[in-house]
Amino acid sequence: MTTRTEGAGPSGLAPALMKTGALTSDWLPTFDAVPRELFVPDRIWPGIADGTRQTALVDRTKDPGAWSEAVYSDIPLTTQWDDGRHSGDGLGITPTSSSSMPRMVFSMLADLDVQEGHRVLEVGTGTGWNAGLLAHRVGGANVVSVEYDADVSKAAIQNLRAAGLAPLVLVGDGRLGHANSAPFDRIIATCSVGEVPRAWIEQTRPGGVIVAPWGTEYGGEYIVRLVVGKDGTANGSFTRSSAFMRLRQQRTNRPPFDAYLKGQEWPAGGVRGVTTLAPADIGGWLAQFVIGLQMPGAFWRAERYDDGTYTLWTYSTDTKSWASADYEPEASEYVVVQSGPRKLWDETEAAYRWWKQNDRPGFDRFGLTVDGDGERVWLDSPDNLVPRPSV
Ligand SMILES: C[S@@+](CC[C@H](N)C(=O)[O-])C[C@H]1O[C@@H](n2cnc3c(N)ncnc32)[C@H](O)[C@@H]1O
Repeated sequence: MTTRTEGAGPSGLAPALMKTGALTSDWLPTFDAVPRELFVPDRIWPGIADGTRQTALVDRTKDPGAWSEAVYSDIPLTTQWDDGRHSGDGLGITPTSSSSMPRMVFSMLADLDVQEGHRVLEVGTGTGWNAGLLAHRVGGANVVSVEYDADVSKAAIQNLRAAGLAPLVLVGDGRLGHANSAPFDRIIATCSVGEVPRAWIEQTRPGGVIVAPWGTEYGGEYIVRLVVGKDGTANGSFTRSSAFMRLRQQRTNRPPFDAYLKGQEWPAGGVRGVTTLAPADIGGWLAQFVIGLQMPGAFWRAERYDDGTYTLWTYSTDTKSWASADYEPEASEYVVVQSGPRKLWDETEAAYRWWKQNDRPGFDRFGLTVDGDGERVWLDSPDNLVPRPSV
């Protein structure tokens, strides 16, 4: 086993994870038997514990100590950028495969509540570590893991072999599940979705559980734990905050700035107004999630200036509507301009107001129902739906 120089280290990570409550004693033998280092490639871009930023390349062949420290730290490790098109040592544009943060891996496994003999489907094999942990726990014959990227899948199979584990690893679109191996007792996705694929529900036996990172287009993401009922309805609550890579086929196209202003100077004929809602008040992960639930097809970008002020742009993905809100740290009113059929700032204010009127509920009071009519997010109970305008 590799020795560490700093950080939690092979012997320090387990106690650190147990202290957070993520790693429970029933998973400890599996944690020990399936070491993360067997699943991490030589070249990694370590992330940070509570954020989505990546740091500079760590190359095991050049700095084995730094590599080992990263592997045995509670951080995610990016292993692929830009669907494999990125080369070189620098950071790419979008991280597209990784070894997830250990705390998240074990928290999601706890949510999954895997029992002996369960048949489990994982979507997003990545490095193969999670599939390996599952295979050790319930037996390789009971685990199927699907990965979209053929090169990533190939490396995962090699990693799993080196660890002496043999779940069924397949290349394919995980949205489709794996009908030939269904029904499953458990399905876990390690890439995020904005819509739970129907096949996952159809391939889960009644009473079975689906655990997946779920987020809106606007922002904010939480793990949802759904229980599938006899009638094919899946229902459950959000359990914890997450920041996963999006399932490839559900990534949305975010048109560039000029698709909105179309070469014109701001305010480009937009309607001016003022707001007392500070753009800074809606920047948090939870606020974004709650606003996003009520603003389908909308997303935001911040344009920051040297003096600490910024413009919060809100866009509709169809490029027809936009809004700008100018933030100044000491101000109590902010200039807003809106353009297009959707009054995006009015929608933002209404969504925020709804949250405030309900005493700013936390993520754990929200839940999701998925059935033949689509999906609906609720507050406290499935009959209390979060308002979602049809756009
Ligand atoms: C965060 S990584 C998974 C981490 C992995 N479970 C591990 O233990 O290392 C997310 C993975 O999901 C994969 N992915 C994205 N869309 C997919 C899809 N439609 N079907 C299967 N895998 C997909 C990505 O290629 C990526 O490897």
